[in-house]
Amino acid sequence: MKVMKMMKKATALFLTVGMIISLAACGSSASSQPAESTDKTADAQAADAGTTTSAAASTAAETSAAIDKIVFGTNAEFPPFEFISSTGGAIGEFDGIDMAIAKQIGEDLGAEVSINNMEFDSLLIALQNGQIDAVIAGMTITDERKESVDFTMPYYNATQVMIIKEGTEIQKAADMEGKNIAVIQGYTGETCVKDLGFDYVSFKKGPDAIMDLINGKSDVVVIDSATAQKYVNDNAGQNLVIVEDNEKFASEEYGIAVKKGNTALLNALNAEIEKMTADGTIANLADQYAVAAEE
Ligand code: ARG
Repeated sequence: MKVMKMMKKATALFLTVGMIISLAACGSSASSQPAESTDKTADAQAADAGTTTSAAASTAAETSAAIDKIVFGTNAEFPPFEFISSTGGAIGEFDGIDMAIAKQIGEDLGAEVSINNMEFDSLLIALQNGQIDAVIAGMTITDERKESVDFTMPYYNATQVMIIKEGTEIQKAADMEGKNIAVIQGYTGETCVKDLGFDYVSFKKGPDAIMDLINGKSDVVVIDSATAQKYVNDNAGQNLVIVEDNEKFASEEYGIAVKKGNTALLNALNAEIEKMTADGTIANLADQYAVAAEE
């Protein structure tokens, strides 16, 4: 009896430790840090925004008189956040939640906004080179990325999920062991799978990974939740389903990145995110583009 009890305790302890490690290993690990560092400003600005609706925006415009132009870098292969729309989008041919946010930022700051579309892997380098002013690309705030760039406060919460064909025996992340796993190169999903210790194949673009899944070569695609939902909707009839594992896949937060030390732009963007979060703009855009994605 006593031995049993002790074993139970040991197992429980082991499980707890294991869970903590896996949470830290996968995803942003930044879930509490950026919120902590920006909380004060956030609260203060939320209070301001409450008194006058455009308070945050005009403050941003005033403190950043020099910001008359923002070149945003993105990778427009990540619906519903950024994609190319043949019928025209929020900014030129570019549409999606992030593109609508960028457009609004330009309007509020009175700045001319343009989009530089490039590979996801090139975005942070382009930022460091000064080729672009900011990255808006559904980009997860991670400690690793924070070493080379600065992030705004989070504007969207996401998580990694698994897309499988209905009937594939994957109910949790651990079930991916021995399966053919597909990820997108440079995405946090790749880091997650790597940290879990599984072999995987990395694809350049989301749709390529989805094709591989539909063709039966891959068993599972690990990618961000909202994008996964979009791919599943787009491929109705292929019996694709989403499997979540909230224990293994930690919550991730998207932020806009700027060059390290570019506080003028960072402050202006933070004030904008603060305003657009408080007045529901971002939530509305997320709804709008998720609905559009289902049609
Ligand atoms: N959230 C993931 C990451 O930060 C994927 C972002 C992909 N974004 C894109 N525009 N392709 O790695």
